[in-house]
Order: sequence, then structure tokens, then C-alpha cells
Amino acid sequence: MKISQKVNLIEPSATLTISARAKTMKKNGLNVLSFSAGEPDFDTPQCIKDAAKLAIDQGFTKYTPTSGILELKEAICHKLKKENGLTYHPDEVIVSCGAKHSLFNAILTLCDTDDEVLLPVPYWVTYVEQIRLAGGKPVFILCDPKTLRISWEDILNKITDKTKLIIINNPSNPSGIVWELETLKKIADLAIEKDILIISDEIYENLIYDGAQAKSIASFSPEAQSQTIVINGVSKTFSMTGWRIGYTAGPKAAIQAMGRLQDHSTSNPTSISQKAALAALQCDQQIIQNMVKLFNQRRLLMIQLLHEIPDITFPVPQGAFYIFADFSSYLGRSFDHQRIDTSLQLAEILLEKALIAAVPGSAFGMEGYLRFSYATSEENIEKGMTQLKNFLLNIT
Ligand SMILES: Cc1ncc(COP(=O)(O)O)c(C=O)c1O
Repeated sequence: MKISQKVNLIEPSATLTISARAKTMKKNGLNVLSFSAGEPDFDTPQCIKDAAKLAIDQGFTKYTPTSGILELKEAICHKLKKENGLTYHPDEVIVSCGAKHSLFNAILTLCDTDDEVLLPVPYWVTYVEQIRLAGGKPVFILCDPKTLRISWEDILNKITDKTKLIIINNPSNPSGIVWELETLKKIADLAIEKDILIISDEIYENLIYDGAQAKSIASFSPEAQSQTIVINGVSKTFSMTGWRIGYTAGPKAAIQAMGRLQDHSTSNPTSISQKAALAALQCDQQIIQNMVKLFNQRRLLMIQLLHEIPDITFPVPQGAFYIFADFSSYLGRSFDHQRIDTSLQLAEILLEKALIAAVPGSAFGMEGYLRFSYATSEENIEKGMTQLKNFLLNIT
């Protein structure tokens, strides 16, 4: 069978592949400790599940408007106002089947063939594939390998008259970096001046530590808001990854165009999940604080244990639930006469021989790094990091 050129271009998701392999190994009885997960390990809060059950019992099981039910869009507007200082009308909001779907719709809606899309490295793996699928050209902005931050000069150097979009992920997956306000402000000003659109992926905005502040780039001024498509969702904040609800807020013309695309692809996101997402946005927000507190304990533990491992470095993450560490000093070395040249090979050896799953940095555009998720128990972190430290002694 001949697969279309468009789809042939797409690489499988390295994060999903490693997680799936770790799960299969676990099923086969191997005691794999997985640090590859991109999702909170907590159960979805009961009040959210109850709302979904009620939706089913009340027969709320039919098509809804493509862009989502009005109550949910109103609740999203309320959230954006209260938490981000952004004023939107429900017509400027569309609910999709997860933030990944929101991003897909936004990129396909905004990006024409050969449009250049600025992508700070390390990037979340899916952006590149979605840009390519839309016919656009990802233009990578390399970061400082120690701080994992991009410089202002590097952004300026990449601007051409084909630059259409820049994607900001704040806090960042995989680095856990929270963007500095000053850089965001400069990007917003530049976007206004050069008429560059901004996609601001804020899916991890609630998972922040050490008093960091993940401000939405749209909130600097009404002009910045007009240039920005804000993407968010309930997956990470409310431990609802399986429910598949994400949303986009932006200028009405873009939202309407995304709606047309969604009309002819998925139609509405699941009616029951929409009611669950509504309950999530209206529930006692202490739920989030409790989860953040636990993530923070795990973060501190993982930082402490990774610091005990020789020859690796990483900037202390202040957001999301990942640590992105530089393991390049282990490349060019060998395990059991097998040379390790790439982060993928290192991740494979760790999975097969040390029963530890981490995602290779190459998936995020940075060779030599590994991403560890601390969305797992302290017991697993303690065990896994000790196992990792001991195993690495065999790489010579
Ligand atoms: C940076 C980033 N954006 C978007 C998403 C997609 O979230 P969702 O599960 O709502 O599709 C993820 C999921 O891993 C992510 O890491």
C-alpha cells in the first residue's frame, strides 16, 4: 500500500513509543521503573468523575456544537480572566479533543506551505510533526546547553520575511523551564512589530514551583493578545489525560477557521468529557495545589538524587514534571563492549539492561540529553535513581 507523502513524513512519537515499550515490558513481568510518562499518575478527582457519570445518566450523550458547549466555553473565559487576566468572549474559544488536537487545528489553520515557524529547542516532539504536516518549515532556535534557554539575539537572527509563527511552551516540556518575563515581553513586542503570530502552549501553567510565575504572553497588552493563540486544557492540571479535552482562545477569525476544520474532522469533543472538564474548572482549586505539592516533593527528591550521579548536569526545573539532563559525557563510552553514540542508544540500554525508562533528548531536538518525568511515586524515584546511578558505573 502506498502511504501518502504527507503522512510518510511523520515520525512516530518517541515519548509514546518508549512509554508503550516500558508498559509492555512491565506486562511481561519485568520490573521496569518508568520515568517516561507524560501524564500525572494521580486519579482524576472524584467530583470530575461524578459530573461525567451524571452526564451519562442524564443522557448527555449526543452531538454538541462543534466548538463545545456554551457553559464550558464560558467557564474557560472565566478561568482566562481570573487566572490570566485575559478577556475573551465564548466566540473566541474552541474546545477540542485534547491540547494536542487544539495545536493541530491551530497550526493547520495558520500555517501555509513554506511558512516558517520558529521553534525554541528543546521542543515538545509533536510541534515539529504538526508543522511539517501543515507544509510549514520548522526553524529551530538553539538554546544554551547549560541553561536550556534561548537568547534574544538567536531569536532575532532567525526572523525572515517568511516567519509566520513562533511557538512558546511555558513552562516547557521537556526542560521544565519557566520563561523569563523580560524575554516574553520582547517576543510579544517583536510579534506585534513584525506581525508574527504566537502560539502559546500553556498546558503546564499550573504546575510551577519555587514561586515561579508562568505568565501568558498574551497578557502583556491587548495587541499581544491579538497576535496570540492561547492553548490550554485539563489533561495535566486535573490529571485528565484520557478524557481528551483541550481548548484554544484567540482572535475570532482564527477560532472560526479552526471550527470549520474541526467541523469536518472530529466534530465536537466527547460530550461527557466536556461536562467533566466543566466540573474541573469549577471544582475546588485546592485539588490542584495538593497535586502541585506532591509533584514538588518528587521534583526535589529527583533533583537531589540526580545530583549524586557523576558527569551529568541539568538546570533546576521550575515547572511541568520533567528534568532534562545532559548525559553527553556518557556518549562515546561503552556498555559490555557495546558503544553508545546517541541518546536513543543510551535510553535503549537503560530500558533493556537497567529496566529504567527515560526519553532520549533527540526526540526533543537535543542529542546527548535524557528526559526524566517525576510523575511517579517517591518510592519509584528513590529506587530508579539509585538503580540508574549504579548502572551508569558500568558504562566505561
Ligand atoms: C507541551 C505539551 N503540549 C500539549 C500536550 C498535549 O496535551 P493533551 O493531552 O491535552 O493533548 C502535551 C502532552 O504531553 C504537552 O507536553
